[in-house]
Amino acid sequence: MSEAINLGSIDDIDEGEAKVIPGDENGTGEDIAVFHAEDGNFYALNDECTHETASLADGWIEGTEVECPVHSAKFCLKSGQAMCMPATIAARTHKVVVQDGAVMLYPNCPVAAQV
Ligand code: FES
Repeated sequence: MSEAINLGSIDDIDEGEAKVIPGDENGTGEDIAVFHAEDGNFYALNDECTHETASLADGWIEGTEVECPVHSAKFCLKSGQAMCMPATIAARTHKVVVQDGAVMLYPNCPVAAQV
């Protein structure tokens, strides 16, 4: 398992919002978006829509999905699965754990599908 990155308190990312951890900070070379979903949980996806180039962190969170701000493809925050066109390829997931009130990101530790 990769080393965890402490992103700070759960209160630092409001529900319905996302925080981007740049690739040079998370060690993967690719930006990762950590979402505070409307189910109260935290999820992480690579911060790039798999359709074209767009930041998913700039999109809209609805329940446990995020809608791309450019062409409105939706991705499941739990599995990364593309839920509708125009995206057909899943976004890469990373494990997130809340530990003692802190959000811990495990880059390169994919999440098994939970849908
Ligand atoms: S760039 Fe995201 S749906 Fe097209």
